[in-house]
Amino acid sequence: MSILHVLAIDGPVASGKGTVARAVASALGFHLLDSGAIYRAFALSCLQKKTNVSEINSLSIEAKALSLEFSGELVIVNGADATNEIRTEAVGMLASQLSAIPEVRTGLLERQRAFARAPGLVADGRDMGTVVFPGAQLKVFLTATAEVRGVRRFNQLAKSANATTPPLAQVVAQIRQRDDQDKSRPIAPLQPANDAIVIDNALQSKHETTAAVLALWALRGR
Ligand code: DC
Repeated sequence: MSILHVLAIDGPVASGKGTVARAVASALGFHLLDSGAIYRAFALSCLQKKTNVSEINSLSIEAKALSLEFSGELVIVNGADATNEIRTEAVGMLASQLSAIPEVRTGLLERQRAFARAPGLVADGRDMGTVVFPGAQLKVFLTATAEVRGVRRFNQLAKSANATTPPLAQVVAQIRQRDDQDKSRPIAPLQPANDAIVIDNALQSKHETTAAVLALWALRGR
């Protein structure tokens, strides 16, 4: 039986993990799991269905029943294209709040593990190396200060045509708030696995970070 390769890339918001995970998956010919998109899709679905999120006991069932498909670059939630809608700050914030509820995490766990298929998987998230794929051959944790990540996010927002860009200080404050929420939750908090390699990529381009992860994979991932 061949070993299923899993490379876990975790990190906080705007750490570049999404772009790096996509580039690494493409270079290796592996599948890609954007686990944040799953949490975001669940949050959007709760908003659409006006789910009473204080009914904790039903959340696991709701999460398991989530109607979600990835079709190429598209994310389809409840049968409709939600690719852009799941990326809004409001949906991200609700995703972060819901992701602190154990029933939600349990309900979404198997859906994430099902992405692990031959020849391999690059999994991007907050707890890929700690909870979802603890046996991953390589675990990388990308990080940079909230200020550096705030500038990145600010520049992204400034470039996107449809958004009015909030002041930089507000973007940094939102990033800190999300970091605090993701780090302080009792279940699967945002933290590097004990055997993760932490890369502070403040001074790296996304190409350099991608090259560094690929080099680590060549060294340790086989
Ligand atoms: O990576 P992202 O910003 O798209 O994730 C949105 C939120 O989902 C994030 O603030 C916390 C939650 N999340 C999580 O708890 N565990 C993951 N593996 C991925 C995301």
